[in-house]
Amino acid sequence: MLNTIGVIGLGVMGSNIALNMASKGETVAVYNYTRDLTDQLMERRDDHALHPYYEAQDFIQSLEAPRKIFMMVTAGKAVDSVIHSILPFLEEGDIIMDGGNSFYKDSERRYEELRDKGVHFLGIGISGGEVGALTGPSIMPGGDKEAYDEVASILTKISAKVDGEPCCTYIGPKGAGHYVKMVHNGIEYADMQLITEAYTFLRQNVGLSIEEIAEIFDTWNQGELQSYLIEITASILKKKDEVTGAPMVDVILDKVGQNGTGQWTSIQAIQDGIPSTIITESLFARYISSLKEERVQAEDLLHGPSGEREELNKEKWIEYVRQALYMGKVCAYAQGFAQYKKTSELNGWNLPLKDIALIFRGGCIIRAQFLNVISQVYGENSELANLLVSPFFADKIKDYQKGLRNVVSTGVLTGTAFPCLSSSLTYYDSYRKGESSASLLQAQRDYFGAHTYERKDMTGKFHTNW
Ligand code: 6PG
Repeated sequence: MLNTIGVIGLGVMGSNIALNMASKGETVAVYNYTRDLTDQLMERRDDHALHPYYEAQDFIQSLEAPRKIFMMVTAGKAVDSVIHSILPFLEEGDIIMDGGNSFYKDSERRYEELRDKGVHFLGIGISGGEVGALTGPSIMPGGDKEAYDEVASILTKISAKVDGEPCCTYIGPKGAGHYVKMVHNGIEYADMQLITEAYTFLRQNVGLSIEEIAEIFDTWNQGELQSYLIEITASILKKKDEVTGAPMVDVILDKVGQNGTGQWTSIQAIQDGIPSTIITESLFARYISSLKEERVQAEDLLHGPSGEREELNKEKWIEYVRQALYMGKVCAYAQGFAQYKKTSELNGWNLPLKDIALIFRGGCIIRAQFLNVISQVYGENSELANLLVSPFFADKIKDYQKGLRNVVSTGVLTGTAFPCLSSSLTYYDSYRKGESSASLLQAQRDYFGAHTYERKDMTGKFHTNW
């Protein structure tokens, strides 16, 4: 009997996706470039649901037509070389799916190259880490709708479910699926950084212990801040190092890595004129963290404000930090979704913002209760310019800005950096002003470069002989 789907690339993510498919009733052909990973997977589940192959040709020929091949290999050159290795054995109408964190422009190129050969290509954003891959990730497929329809039943079956609804929906043409995953990761970076800043304030400014902060995060996770990232932060803060007994968070070197997706989000925002400042600050915060040696040297030379740390009323400030974090998150998600909207318009993708929020509710790293609200907001008005101007968030922020303003200004006065919280406030204060000082800047450009300007009272381009 032929297999219903094949998985190539049997690292942790690929193996878990294959096991997930097998547990949902698919008969899965599995193949890896090297034999060891295939054997390791077969030790985890050796029954009639998974069938190992050791040659690309045997693997492809074991699949029912149209062949459905799910690739889970490291983004970059490896994706192209795997495609080229199986292409000679494929037939018209077969479907290749790339579930890795590929750059969306690479997915567009692959889509076009394969289309010319009659093979469908779906660039599929997958979020949820290794556990999600096994138990149900959030899935963002992009490519031809007719190809998606062929694989939709498998993808929805293996995805996470929220209220019985699958966290998988057709995103749009060509690279749209990987694009949505890319910005998901940009939002993820911002969300993680905002949480880290809330923790910093509670520890350094309010003077709470790590244990107390873990409790606060647990409490926050019961309310409107409920999210996977808040949940794991509480759990991380409770963890002790087995060697020293110290809190793990104090043992880990304060240098943050990254694998590219957040960086691509910022680069694309900059190239397309989209002000994703909070997301970009979160990326730069990682870069500054990695200057560890320089920071250690600078500490002896560069001084912050002098004076004693002011005693802060715990209860009041915990609530301020909660408000600041919530408002920072709203601003960061507003930027991510504004980036979706603008890029969708630029590319004619028609991205389903309401459904994107819905499939982010489960399985993915940024899953959070308030995505329900975001989805409702777009359900009521799919043309909304920015989440900040939705009645729900505008009203919420009216009160919560007090918390954010207090936290950011205390950070400024005490010399503690809060890049994403302060960037959120700057974004909010810039976005809510109909009049700005940009006129002066435009005048400067015209003064030295004759770049011209527009007027408030007349249409057309003008130049002044300054
Ligand atoms: C997910 C994650 C996952 C991964 C990324 C981003 O949605 O499951 O986003 O794709 O964690 O690699 O992480 P970096 O911090 O390494 O860039």
